[in-house]
Amino acid sequence: MPTLTWVGKDKVVNHHHDVPFKVLQQQNRFNAPDDSPANSTDNRIIHGDNLEALKSLLPEFEGKVNCIYIDPPYNTGNEGWLYNDAVNDPKIRKWLGQVVGKEGEDLSRHDKWLCMMYPRLKLLHRLLAKDGVIFISIDDNEQANLRLICDEIFGSGNFVTNIIWRSSDSSNNDSKQFSTDYNHTLLYSKKIGWKSNRLERIEENNAHYKNPDSDPNGDWFSGNVSSPNPRINLTFDIISPNGNIIKPPKNGWRWRKERIDEMIERKEIIFSDDQTRIVKKTYLKDQSGIIPSNIWWDIDDTGHNRNAKYELIKIFDEFKTSDIFKTPKPTKFIEKVLKISCSKNAIILDSFAGSGTTAHATLKLNAQDGGNRRFILIEMEDYADTITAERVRRVMSGYGEGNKQVPGLGGSFAYYTVGEPIFNPDDTLNEAVGIDVIRNYVAYSEGIRGEDQTPQDNAYTPYLMGLNTDTAWIFYYEPKQVTCLDLDFLGLLKFGLAKPGTAIIYADKCLLTKEFMTKYGIIFKKIPRDITRF
Ligand SMILES: C[S@@+](CC[C@H](N)C(=O)[O-])C[C@H]1O[C@@H](n2cnc3c(N)ncnc32)[C@H](O)[C@@H]1O
Repeated sequence: MPTLTWVGKDKVVNHHHDVPFKVLQQQNRFNAPDDSPANSTDNRIIHGDNLEALKSLLPEFEGKVNCIYIDPPYNTGNEGWLYNDAVNDPKIRKWLGQVVGKEGEDLSRHDKWLCMMYPRLKLLHRLLAKDGVIFISIDDNEQANLRLICDEIFGSGNFVTNIIWRSSDSSNNDSKQFSTDYNHTLLYSKKIGWKSNRLERIEENNAHYKNPDSDPNGDWFSGNVSSPNPRINLTFDIISPNGNIIKPPKNGWRWRKERIDEMIERKEIIFSDDQTRIVKKTYLKDQSGIIPSNIWWDIDDTGHNRNAKYELIKIFDEFKTSDIFKTPKPTKFIEKVLKISCSKNAIILDSFAGSGTTAHATLKLNAQDGGNRRFILIEMEDYADTITAERVRRVMSGYGEGNKQVPGLGGSFAYYTVGEPIFNPDDTLNEAVGIDVIRNYVAYSEGIRGEDQTPQDNAYTPYLMGLNTDTAWIFYYEPKQVTCLDLDFLGLLKFGLAKPGTAIIYADKCLLTKEFMTKYGIIFKKIPRDITRF
């Protein structure tokens, strides 16, 4: 498979492993007013660089996200973005703190963009559920590069399609060469052979179904009767009721003779008035939804850029300018992304959240179909609170005045920042994050199911982290002293009626022999060495 190389690639292919695991700190929570309609409540907005934030999501969400939508910087040369990841390499350090320049003025601009995207896509891939999909909007500045790195990360066989979205409602006659009126959205699935949801049929899809003969089965249209490939055994004459011989089409009929006779009997196949043709009735009642096309050209269906800005002004009418946020997507566009890709209970992630359109679209769709889709948004700029989260607050509680009032959609979310790293640079545990956070992290890393996790104030021992009929997990950790797994400590461990066959015990040291541990089903894990790093 062809792969793309660029300056710095070798420094970033594994960079996601080096990103320190930091704790997400909840700052506040927003609930829509009590009288609001029901909507999803377990939503999150995270203020921080998505490289760190995505890493922090791994313990809880690895393999769980059903739909990722991202709309990263397109690298147009006008966005003023910096490549600032802490990659320790002289070549890359030279780039840091400098705004990425325009084509021709900055020879490494594509290298920087690829270095920025690669580790983030790696983490996004890990977060995707088995049936999950990722949509990435982009324009021609980076589309070709993006396609190649996605082929590498998600697999070229996992490429589903490139959606062409009409982003502009009017052509730009001042353009020197072409008016650019579309964007790309690349779609990859975690598993090969993923199937999209079908879209609801609309009037336009049904317009050619009619019922000229008052058929009790309802509206129908005349379906294709020819075989798609040449088939000798399907090539036969049909005799009409008045004895007319109807010759087969070039490839033969679509069905065997017996099947055609049955359909004639059931009046699913009728004869044309002059009895020179057969007519196969394809009923509307038998039709399923519409398979989505990869050209999204109807601006009434999926909006356009100007219309996205207008949506935002309506929410933030105090700004009175369309420059509140320069590059929003229309909610209709993301609604369609969600409709075709995930279930009503999906977890949806947008790690380049901008003005929060993904959350808005999620809440709208839930309100329409009673779904409980949940969103996680990540935005690194300071407007994460004042625009991203504020939009969601307004959408949840309602906005506008008088006849422009838009009712709230309900729901709630928690707002987080990216906090301290869980490990110190010398690899010891960072006590400053608190024992609860450390225990939670270790519990996730052990894969202890939520219902098996135990709080510190459980009935048996404050070191118990999880318990079920098979296993007890013990985290014997004291910030100020060295802990030792020995017979005295084992003597303190009693679990009432539960008699788990295995005990996984974390401690600083172990004085038990291997034979003893094997005999009693004890697994020792050394702190911090044996704590999984995500
Ligand atoms: C094109 S905008 C997304 C617009 C969004 N789809 C909407 O409808 O509003 C890209 C956003 O990604 C954010 N961003 C860029 N790099 C980021 C990073 N490393 N971590 C988190 N957010 C980032 C930018 O600040 C910007 O708000």
